[in-house]
Amino acid sequence: MTEGQNARKEEGEPKKRKEQKPYGGKDLGLRFKDKGRALKETVAYKNGEWMPKSQVTIELGDRGFYLGDAVFDLFRTFNGRPFRIKDHIDRFFRSAQFARLDPGFTPDELTALTLECIERNEQLRSEFGDWSVWFSVTRGLAGWRTLDAKPTFVVYAGEVPFYTFADQYEDGASAVITRSRNHTHQSLDPKVKHTSRMHLNLSDLEARDVDPTAWPIMLDMEGNIAEGSGSNVFVVAGNSIKTPSDATILRGVTRDVVIELADQMGIPLSEEAIQPYDVYTADEVFFTSTPFSVLPVTSVDRREIGDGRPGPIATRLLAAFSELAGIDIVDQAQRYKDARSDN
Ligand SMILES: Cc1ncc(COP(=O)(O)O)c(C=O)c1O
Repeated sequence: MTEGQNARKEEGEPKKRKEQKPYGGKDLGLRFKDKGRALKETVAYKNGEWMPKSQVTIELGDRGFYLGDAVFDLFRTFNGRPFRIKDHIDRFFRSAQFARLDPGFTPDELTALTLECIERNEQLRSEFGDWSVWFSVTRGLAGWRTLDAKPTFVVYAGEVPFYTFADQYEDGASAVITRSRNHTHQSLDPKVKHTSRMHLNLSDLEARDVDPTAWPIMLDMEGNIAEGSGSNVFVVAGNSIKTPSDATILRGVTRDVVIELADQMGIPLSEEAIQPYDVYTADEVFFTSTPFSVLPVTSVDRREIGDGRPGPIATRLLAAFSELAGIDIVDQAQRYKDARSDN
């Protein structure tokens, strides 16, 4: 905790919203500084071989590159231990099956490869850091009308990008409902975690046009709330939680964890259609996603949600999530960021 935060706590002053720069003003270069030293290079796996991550190349003629013909997934670690690995691997295989892509592995073999990826890189995990472990399969090197190529398959690890959200646990995140809509199951089923993500990128850009720190919320084609560009959306009204059903969203692994936790905590939760009205009039809004678990949202379209502070239900869910993960999620993100702040 900084001196300012201590003083505020002691004096009981109301907290001012911090001025936020995108990514806390940090350089997002791949080799960001870890306490003054460059992070040593991790190793990654491509088609049967382990190599330094910078040596993994994807050829121009790979359909994953030029046609977005690929699916992927990722899980994170908490203190180096993988979390809900099976759920992410099962979702990856469902995405691959839907897109008729063959990873060339069984789920058990892929699990072993991702664990090996953590093991090979673990000595490079930085202070307070944790891994995001990515795995991706493309249809491979092939022409426009050729679909029977040898797939390209990669597994690699990156640091959880705590600096993108560390302050928002305490201050609350802001969000914007964008004009870019989510796909529907009639077009490109959002249940598939694919790399054709332009609609998500455009929605991110739109949100940042309004506020450089804002996260997007997309509607479906009916005008109901769908999801964020990499997160699921929840609203709290009174004592109960609502989240969109899985018809027009990626069924987030974190979303499932929150549904389980709410059940264990005796908080009523329903999956149903939600409109912008429900967001603007909610007592609380929060996102769920693998990197941050639960992130309170305190403004949407520049309208204050509830009393403009992270609410009690999101806070309780974060505490329960921390217990499940075996680490204080908020504290870790803050320590990670503080250890790298310039002052
Ligand atoms: C479009 C979309 N929705 C929701 C999520 C959240 O899913 P999870 O909780 O499994 O990270 C993601 C994750 O990347 C996503 O890409």
